[in-house]
Amino acid sequence: MERTFIMLKPDAVQRGLVGEVISRFEKKGFKLAGMKLIQVHRDLAEEHYVEHRGKGFFEPTVDYIMSSPVVAMVWEGKNAVALARELMGATNPASSNPGSIRGMYGMDISRNVIHGSDSLASAEREIALYFKPEELIDYKKAGEEWLSE
Ligand code: TYD
Ligand code: MG
Repeated sequence: MERTFIMLKPDAVQRGLVGEVISRFEKKGFKLAGMKLIQVHRDLAEEHYVEHRGKGFFEPTVDYIMSSPVVAMVWEGKNAVALARELMGATNPASSNPGSIRGMYGMDISRNVIHGSDSLASAEREIALYFKPEELIDYKKAGEEWLSE
């Protein structure tokens, strides 16, 4: 089982999309391992997007995730990192698959609703940035036997 880090960005919270997006993850078959509403401050925001430091969109993207609360979550499942990226859709909602979360709910790359780790290594790094080990819960979820062989 893999774990991936997912963030519902400020636009998702402000636009009342939290429930709908969480529902997409639940219905897909992911298991929730951790969740909290937080206000991201500059140090954490810059560390989150450190791979993009120096690029033109770095500062506006950092300012944007600090602009209002976000929902930080850890979702678990078989191949969770890649499956979550599929469910989210491409970075730019203008070209995301229309059935994906970004394709359904977003209009512009600068307000693309959701963040998800892009690799297992990123997932481990991002989960550790946002969660203490004791904030993640390992439990048995009803119906797991119906998700794969
Ligand atoms: P990136 O890591 O490339 O995308 P993803 O979120 O799909 O992993 O970029 C991080 C965020 O930066 C992206 O979600 C939105 C923002 N961004 C822009 O505003 N403009 C851009 O040209 C790019 C590439 C990203
Ligand atoms: Mg990324």
